[in-house]
Amino acid sequence: MKKDLLNLYELGRADFEMIFRRSEALKKMNKDEISYTPLVGKTLGMIFDKSSTRTRLSFEVGIYQLGGMATFLSRRDIQLGRGETIPDTARVMSRYLDGIVIRTFDQKWVEEFALHASIPVINGLTDLLHPCQILSDIFTIIEEKGTYEGLKVAYVGDGNNVANSWINAAARLPFTLHLACPEGYDPDDTILQRGVAESPGGIRLFRAPFDAVTDADVIYTDVWASMGQEDEREERAPVFMDYQVNEHLLTYGRQDAIVMHCLPAHRGEEITDDVLDGSHSVVVDQAENRLHVQKALMEILIGGQYNKDE
Ligand code: CP
Ligand code: NVA
Repeated sequence: MKKDLLNLYELGRADFEMIFRRSEALKKMNKDEISYTPLVGKTLGMIFDKSSTRTRLSFEVGIYQLGGMATFLSRRDIQLGRGETIPDTARVMSRYLDGIVIRTFDQKWVEEFALHASIPVINGLTDLLHPCQILSDIFTIIEEKGTYEGLKVAYVGDGNNVANSWINAAARLPFTLHLACPEGYDPDDTILQRGVAESPGGIRLFRAPFDAVTDADVIYTDVWASMGQEDEREERAPVFMDYQVNEHLLTYGRQDAIVMHCLPAHRGEEITDDVLDGSHSVVVDQAENRLHVQKALMEILIGGQYNKDE
């Protein structure tokens, strides 16, 4: 694997498989209460410019369980917030830390940081991408369905960071990705065109949600207004109304379809209470798996031992 996890497009299928294998092993260790601490003495820095529950907790708890520790660095508390440059910050932090997770607005910011850092840099969400999320989503699909191969995943809603990362994953792994987004809210065009050209299982963008969801094994949605777009929430609501994942939309999917949402959800907007809490929903397992997958990622990128082997 490369030094950093900035996007899923740069992963090979073997990298995905290694992460899923290690996630499964680490999840089993947690369940069996086996103490496994390969990251003793290692410290993870966490620069977060946006709110987080799952990402922050999964990395903080995860590195603690692996024997290391995390230090949370909100921009206003460090000199970055007062104008210290990205290269200076990245070079200096690389002398203290063993890895860093960044959650911010601009993807280019994370990429620039990674360029100047000698330690692994993990993208914990930008406006463009959310790679860690989709890694644990696919791991959850493997748990539920045995494989992702040959399945149809339907993403319904905003063509946002989560949708873009789904496209990057579908560019590398053999599953079919159907997206349904309202006009004007499509995924990133470059990512979509590249994904359509390279995807082994096929990627298609629809306008009508039921077209995308027909015979889907996985029905996935996310908020209509992401972090940083709160001002647009009211104006977006009527545009997205037909894209709600509700009992009716579910009837178009396969009978055994699972419903996924990265959370946090705006209940009653992109998804109804009955579906989010219903028998098809796997959202809490999905959230739990962030922990196991983030641990696998840190074990590989910070611990490094699996990098050498495979
Ligand atoms: N799904 C996800 O990334 O959640 P948080 O924003 O709570 O980290
Ligand atoms: N698209 C959402 C994902 C939150 C985990 C956002 O960026 O706010």
